[in-house]
Amino acid sequence: MSHDDARERAAHLVPQPHSVLLGAGVLQLPAELPVRLDVPAQERAAVLRAIALLPVTSKVVAGRAVVQVRLGAGATPPEGYVLDVTEDGVTITAADRSGVVYAVQTLRQLLPDAAYRQAAPSGTLWVVPVIRVEDSPRFRWRGMLLDVARHFLPKREVLRHIDLMSAHKLNTLHLHLSDDQGWRVESLRFPRLHEVGSWRATSQVSHYSDEAVHDGTPHGGYYTRDDLAEIVAYAADRAITVIPEIGVPGHTGALLAAYPEFGSPPVPDRAVHTNWGVHDALLAPSEQSLEFLRLLFDELLPLFPSPYVHVGGDESVLRAWDNDPVVRAFADKRGLSGSAEIFAALMAEVRQMLAEHGKTPVTWDDSFATQATGAAAESTTTLVMAWRGAEVARRAAAAGHDVVLSPVMPTYFDYFQEAHPDEPLAIGGPVTLGDVASWEPIPQDWSQVESARVRGIQCQMWTEFVEDPRLVDYLLYPRTCAFAEIAWGARTQDLHRRLPHHLDRLAAAGVEFRPLTGPAPWQRGGTGRRAHRAGVPMAERLANYAGAAATGTVADSPDP
Ligand code: ACM
Repeated sequence: MSHDDARERAAHLVPQPHSVLLGAGVLQLPAELPVRLDVPAQERAAVLRAIALLPVTSKVVAGRAVVQVRLGAGATPPEGYVLDVTEDGVTITAADRSGVVYAVQTLRQLLPDAAYRQAAPSGTLWVVPVIRVEDSPRFRWRGMLLDVARHFLPKREVLRHIDLMSAHKLNTLHLHLSDDQGWRVESLRFPRLHEVGSWRATSQVSHYSDEAVHDGTPHGGYYTRDDLAEIVAYAADRAITVIPEIGVPGHTGALLAAYPEFGSPPVPDRAVHTNWGVHDALLAPSEQSLEFLRLLFDELLPLFPSPYVHVGGDESVLRAWDNDPVVRAFADKRGLSGSAEIFAALMAEVRQMLAEHGKTPVTWDDSFATQATGAAAESTTTLVMAWRGAEVARRAAAAGHDVVLSPVMPTYFDYFQEAHPDEPLAIGGPVTLGDVASWEPIPQDWSQVESARVRGIQCQMWTEFVEDPRLVDYLLYPRTCAFAEIAWGARTQDLHRRLPHHLDRLAAAGVEFRPLTGPAPWQRGGTGRRAHRAGVPMAERLANYAGAAATGTVADSPDP
């Protein structure tokens, strides 16, 4: 391992830090690393767990140390850090624990790629260059959605993705825990949710636009309350907040399979859905279903320390409420007319339930757009997650909402990565690596007030067509590397130069990313049921979504 290698690594950091000053010389970390903590007592254990992300064993010392951590208010911007490496040692300065985690992650990138293995080849020398890095993020919300509802991701996979998120300085894991095709949380109060809602008898394996073909194989899984506590704590140690999504009133097919009496209209023999697309399974706005939701949130929300809870609100086919006497009674009692007003009243109740737990609601932009067509606008306390393009995001920002930008183009990483027959079956596409790398999240013509409402950005890993966790790796990486650059925001143009080296780190970590030259033979769609489908042209799809967002309506699956 030459000194030149260590200096080279300073040129291949991802995401690129804001300021890097490379000095002369190197430092070799000892296998047993003396660490001195200038850290408030209540933060010491957590800071030591952050140091433990390095591939060497650390021991706390009072005197001379190789690594010194200084944690103090105002030392850097929030989540920022200064990493100072000299030939004598490393000093990490940060205002908060997240900054320490990010300093450690940058230090890890300066070490040999073996730092990403679970155990290093013997003889690996942990050499880092002399360097000073000053760094802090552009966006406060640097998110990734994992859809564990359509296809369950075992806990070990979620933990692995948390490791990878942290390595890329992402800080928000949005767990999509409920949908028409699966419910993924143990409930002691309502056990049928996990007993009945967590599995389906079969899954659609064909594309939307083809005849529905099913695999005939049961699919399912759920996280126990202890699993979720573990995931939340593991994430917190890596500076990641877990935001749960329990969506209403649409996308509730699995919930209603467990408790059909809360559906509208009540269908006694509902099953967990086995087809993809937009379904008309809706939670009923009724006193009975509101009481159910309240008890459910009382049980589940304490599992998540996050200040935010995502309550869905997307793709709710409100006409399913028409002609339901239960909904009519609810509307009459409250003097509501029209489905947008009934929807608004339901979401207001949900908002109140969250407020009782000190939580701020997050909804998809459909919720904002639907309410914009009725008499009662969405409360501006709700954070709007805008997936149907920049225009609806801007409207929400202008109306006073904080927004997270999660547009289909270029943050839906379930879309294929190149318009090429080798790419495996996906809903459509392409969303290329270049699309992600060249994305400027906030259009130039937004006002300063609107821009200031942007809390951050998020990439989405929906899993309708992703039954194999290996495919999750393929779809997330390297697009997530480019996404992390945008989220962190150092605005460099040379990711293409750094990325091949960074992918060596991911290879060492065992990530089955898409090679820059295209899929490996076993990653291709082939000619079987995973064969490539072009789907609806991207421009048409985006126009459909933007049009629906503009009118407050639901865009049904835009495929024929
Ligand atoms: C969404 O894609 N329905 C948020």
